[in-house]
Amino acid sequence: MAPGPGAAATAEIPRSWRRPVKQRSRLVRRSGPPHLRVAFAHPSEQEFARFLDYYRIRWVYEPVSFPIAWDGERVAEMFTPDFYLPEHDLYVELTTMKQSLVTPKNRKLRLLRELYPDVKVKLLYKRDYEQLLAEAGYAHTDLQNLRKQQIEQILISPVELETRVRALAKRISKEYRGSSIVLVGVLKGITFFLADLARQITVPMAIDYLGVGRYSREAPDLRQQSFGFAGTARQSRRVGITRDLDNPIAGRHVILVEDIVNTGLTLDYLMSVLGAREPASLEVVTLLDRPARRLIDVSLKYVGFQIPNDFVVGYGLDYRELYRNLPFICVLKPSVYVEPRVLPLS
Ligand code: PRP
Repeated sequence: MAPGPGAAATAEIPRSWRRPVKQRSRLVRRSGPPHLRVAFAHPSEQEFARFLDYYRIRWVYEPVSFPIAWDGERVAEMFTPDFYLPEHDLYVELTTMKQSLVTPKNRKLRLLRELYPDVKVKLLYKRDYEQLLAEAGYAHTDLQNLRKQQIEQILISPVELETRVRALAKRISKEYRGSSIVLVGVLKGITFFLADLARQITVPMAIDYLGVGRYSREAPDLRQQSFGFAGTARQSRRVGITRDLDNPIAGRHVILVEDIVNTGLTLDYLMSVLGAREPASLEVVTLLDRPARRLIDVSLKYVGFQIPNDFVVGYGLDYRELYRNLPFICVLKPSVYVEPRVLPLS
């Protein structure tokens, strides 16, 4: 489309004129889910914000306006993309299927891209949500074996996992600078956590694994979350090693890698077993810490996230060996793992 009357071609616009204008915050409430705190211009924007909240993708509503046309030196037109996603440094403009509305938006987007080549912006149809999810780290997530209705909430997004694991690796690399370490992973919830963590630690390391079994007559399928299992000191005596380390750790700096610490019984047991082998030092890194379940005081040097007392799966954590490969951590609805109760006939 030709520039409007009096408007100059984009290449001739001086750099100094191309200054985004910060907008006032649209927050109207301080509490509740983010998509209910903002005054949106259109219900479809709120629906999109709800979608972003669900997947824990951070967003800001209409944070800046970009001047896109000038009349002489005076700004004649601005374009304000609907959303900015800081984790992806991406502006998103929503659109409807109506061609009459899409054409002017395309023009604005073209001008924005020409005038601000460093700004990433995407015009999003509702059907493009999948593409956005792929960019947010949910790529190839096949939620079919875990229907969306079975997920209560996504607790930790792929980006949050990545950021936190990187920070933990950085801290460990700094604190063990000049030494070499042995990462001991407790199978098998640590599968992805250990792989991601180890690849970002910069000190020399060996990797070894421990398999742990817990023996109980009660609810074996729910053991991961200790729902009704390993929940008392009596049961703790039943923790045992089913697969031992390949190599001795005497004199080595050992970091025990856990996916989750609940009651602390497993960790307490493992610390005493490994401690008896006289390593030079012995610390713990756990991705998740669920303090509400704690029965034994354990010392956790490196913690990824403290989580509430919910049933979680993904990024290594399972329910009946399923869902370990989800790229995020989510809370399952109780209906997934609680057998429906048969009500007595009155
Ligand atoms: C999990 C986790 C810990 C333990 C924590 O193992 O890896 O070892 O539970 O619970 P606690 O603090 O109450 O002892 P899980 O039995 O789920 O095995 P998995 O890693 O193979 O899924």
